[in-house]
Amino acid sequence: MRVRIVGVGGREMALAWRLAKDPNVTQLQVARPHPGWPSRTVVVDTLNAEQTDLVIVGPEAPLVDGLADTCAAQGIPCFGPTAAAAQLEASKSWAKEVMLAAGVSTAAHHTVALSDPELDRIALHMAADGVVLKADGLAGGKGVFVCDEADDVRRALVALRAHPGSAAKQIVVEERLTGPETSVFGITDGTRIVGLPSSRDHKRLFDGALGPNTGGMGAIAPDPNMTAEGVETVLRQVHEPVLAELRKRGLSYRGVLYAGLMLTPSGPRVLEFNIRFGDPECQALMALWTDPLRWLYGAATGCLPEGQPDIADGAACCVVLAAPGYPTKPIRGALIPTPQETPSSTVFQAGVALQAGALTAAGGRVLGATGWGATLTQARTHAYSAAESVRFDGAHIRSDIGL
Ligand SMILES: Nc1ncnc2c1ncn2[C@@H]1O[C@H](COP(=O)(O)OP(=O)(O)O)[C@@H](O)[C@H]1O
Ligand SMILES: [Mg+2]
Repeated sequence: MRVRIVGVGGREMALAWRLAKDPNVTQLQVARPHPGWPSRTVVVDTLNAEQTDLVIVGPEAPLVDGLADTCAAQGIPCFGPTAAAAQLEASKSWAKEVMLAAGVSTAAHHTVALSDPELDRIALHMAADGVVLKADGLAGGKGVFVCDEADDVRRALVALRAHPGSAAKQIVVEERLTGPETSVFGITDGTRIVGLPSSRDHKRLFDGALGPNTGGMGAIAPDPNMTAEGVETVLRQVHEPVLAELRKRGLSYRGVLYAGLMLTPSGPRVLEFNIRFGDPECQALMALWTDPLRWLYGAATGCLPEGQPDIADGAACCVVLAAPGYPTKPIRGALIPTPQETPSSTVFQAGVALQAGALTAAGGRVLGATGWGATLTQARTHAYSAAESVRFDGAHIRSDIGL
C-alpha cells in the first residue's frame, strides 16, 4: 500500500516510523523532504488516486480546510474527518451543542458573541465558582482562559477583545471543573470504534506544570489514571453517542476522535474534542501500537476490521527537547548529535534541518525522545537516556514527564 502522510512534525514522524516497519506499506509519500522521515520515503507533489492508496492527515488545519473532502472527491481513502465533522475541534460551541444533543457529560456553558454587551455580566457572574473563557475557533492553544476570580475574567476579556479574529467571534463561557486531565482516543469508521491506550500530556514549559503553555513538552501512554476498562467506558459514554449524533446529522466521521477529559469527582467530563492525534501523545502511542495500518485504512474506507488493535504491554514516554527560547522565540541553529535507535527507544526529529550535512535545530520543539518498557518507570528511564544522547546546546527538557 502506498501511504501519504500529511504534516511534518513529531507526530507525523512517529506515524511514519511505525508505518515504515509494516511490510504492507510499499511506499511512504510526503509533500516535502525532511531529515526526520524514514529512509526510502519519497516526495510526491501531487495528490491523485493513481499513485496513493491512503492519505493519513496529522494536523487539524488541513482537515478543517477540507482535505478529506478533496480526497473523497478523488476517490482516495483518507484517515481524518470531513470539514463538516472537523468542526468538532474547530468550533468549541458546535462541539458543545453536539455533546448536549448526545447527552455527553461536559461543563455547563453559555455561548456568547464577543460583541454582546451581556458577555461581561455572564462571565463575571460565573466567576464566583471559577469560570473558563474559550475562543470558539482554532487558536493554537492560546484561546482558553481559566479564571479563578473577577480580575482574571476582566483580563481574559481584554485579551480576547485584543484579537477579535474569526476564532474569537463567539466565546464559550463555561463552568470550571477540577480534577486530573486525561486523553482517550478512538479510531472509528463513523459507526464502530476501537480504543487506544489513554495518554497524558504536559503542556506547560517548566517542571511542576509551571510557566507558559506550549504545544506539549512530553506525554505518556497509558495514563495510570485511566485504565483500559476506563477507556471502554468513555468510548461507550462519550465517543459512541457523539458519533451517533453526527450520523443523525448526516456526518460520517472517519479517523481518530480524541476526547480531552477531566476526571472530576462526579466522573469523567469532556473538556474538548480533537479530530487528530495529539503531538506528542502520538509519539508515545506509536511506540506501543504495532498494527496501525489496518486500522487507519479500515477507518478511512468506512470498514474497521474485527477485533482490537495490537498494543504492546507496558508503557511509553515521550520527552520533548525544545530549542532555547521556545515557545516565544526559539533560537535555531544548534548542532544535534546523531540520533540512534535502541531496542527500547527512538528519537523523532521534528524541528530539525540539515545544514551543510549536519543536523541542526530549526524549530521550537526539536526532538521527541521516546522510550518504552514493561513499566512506566522503565519507559521514562529509556526516554530520558535517549534525550541525554541527543542533548544539544541550550536544549530545554522537562525532567518530570510521566511523574
Ligand atoms: N471547564 C474547564 N475547567 C477547568 N479547566 C479547563 C476547562 N476547560 C479547559 N480547561 C483547561 O484549559 C486547557 C485548554 O482547554 P481546551 O478546551 O483543551 O482547549 P485547547 O486545547 O483548544 O486550548 C485544558 O487542557 C484544561 O487544562
Ligand atoms: Mg486541549
